[in-house]
Amino acid sequence: MSQKSLQAHWQGVYENKGETELTWFENRPETSLNFIKQSTATTDSIIDVGGGASRLVDEILALGYNDISVLDMSKQALLQSQQRLGEKAKLIQWLVADVTTWKPPQKYTLWHDRAVFHFLTLDKQRQEYLDVLSQSLTQNGTAVIATFALGGPEKCSGLDVERYSPETLSAVMGDEFLLVDSKHQQHRTPNGGVQIFQYSKFLKQK
Ligand SMILES: C[S@@+](CC[C@H](N)C(=O)[O-])C[C@H]1O[C@@H](n2cnc3c(N)ncnc32)[C@H](O)[C@@H]1O
Repeated sequence: MSQKSLQAHWQGVYENKGETELTWFENRPETSLNFIKQSTATTDSIIDVGGGASRLVDEILALGYNDISVLDMSKQALLQSQQRLGEKAKLIQWLVADVTTWKPPQKYTLWHDRAVFHFLTLDKQRQEYLDVLSQSLTQNGTAVIATFALGGPEKCSGLDVERYSPETLSAVMGDEFLLVDSKHQQHRTPNGGVQIFQYSKFLKQK
């Protein structure tokens, strides 16, 4: 799928459904929050890549973080978060971009990605993503990457995904990113289904 049609796909997803109807919706992104709290201080810079309309940004704002960016290729997704946050939305840097071609304007201490990397099914796309990740993270910075786990769904939002264990993800991430922690999560979808996610935490080595 071309970058343009992928963007149209995601724009349509958020135009046609409210955030709470999406299979990946979490009222409180507990697993992500725990990784973020144990890995950073509130003065650190955090980016939620492919953040969509996730409520993670609301939670980290409430914890007192003051350098928060949310990136997504769907402007509509970010608009939903901005509307939910109201005045507080001004405290966030909102970035409409495709993560695989994005040029980071600053360095981040923590990169969070829940359910974006798993859509990259080609080596070339994964390499582009990893190049951007490498440019974006500070030395010793943290990347928390959540994907469908090996027993998880084969598709998300009608698109093929690649499923990972922490070890297979680590192999794709290469030597630059050291796997230091991981966790599995049984995500309950709004219609009562269960999806198994794996969350892996990596430290940038150089
Ligand atoms: C399954 S949703 C997950 C959203 C959010 N992380 C969450 O957990 O609620 C995937 C998100 O990634 C965005 N996305 C997909 N491919 C992307 C890309 N190449 N660059 C930036 N955003 C992308 C979509 O617009 C969508 O918001």
